[in-house]
Amino acid sequence: MSDAAPRLAKRRVGVLISGGGSNMAALIAAARDPAYPAEIVCVISNVASAGGLAKAEAAGVATAVVDHKAFPDRESFERAVVATLDRHDVEIVALAGFMRLLTPWFIARWHDRLINIHPALLPSYKGLHTHARALADGVKIVGCTVHYVRPEMDVGPIIVQAAVPVADDDTADTLAARVLTQEHRIYPLALARVASGAARVVCDAEGRERVVTDLAGTREGALVSPM
Ligand code: GRF
Repeated sequence: MSDAAPRLAKRRVGVLISGGGSNMAALIAAARDPAYPAEIVCVISNVASAGGLAKAEAAGVATAVVDHKAFPDRESFERAVVATLDRHDVEIVALAGFMRLLTPWFIARWHDRLINIHPALLPSYKGLHTHARALADGVKIVGCTVHYVRPEMDVGPIIVQAAVPVADDDTADTLAARVLTQEHRIYPLALARVASGAARVVCDAEGRERVVTDLAGTREGALVSPM
């Protein structure tokens, strides 16, 4: 008999991608830690040529392509995605550069078990081209957000955010690269909190939702940009 403390079962996670899958790779890498509370059991792409598929296969994770163009409507596409997730007994779904809008049916199906990463400090800069729009506005701090998914696009209780300073000579590309580095840091952190039950959604008297974590965190200091 081993002296090691018994490990709690890891939560089973499916990742939905459409592209390169660097966030997906960060989740797979983090989940290799035996102490991580989740395992990535499948990666589904709606795009057959998505670069993330090869990365997942190389990491030994099951992959599937569910091409939205092969279905007559959004819901039948999503039913096929759900069937694949269910085949792998997925409990939590992580969107990682998944470029399809999801229906309220799909989102309700995974209520508080569906998370997304967005390359901006929500609720600012929802939608696409976040870095170019932030640069055009002259903001000095940008960032990234992991949040629970709600039916409105890029809306939902925020789990973790990271702030990134903007430099005078930044372009949308240089900014995107620095924010992406932070995405790779916070997505595994956020998924761990969701999987362990640490990131709980609470609702105030007006029905507004937010996440509480019971973590003390730090109250001191600030990112000042430019310094
Ligand atoms: C990331 O910037 C993510 O925030 C956004 O789409 C991009 C996906 O990049 N939703 P990758 O496929 O994870 O490399």
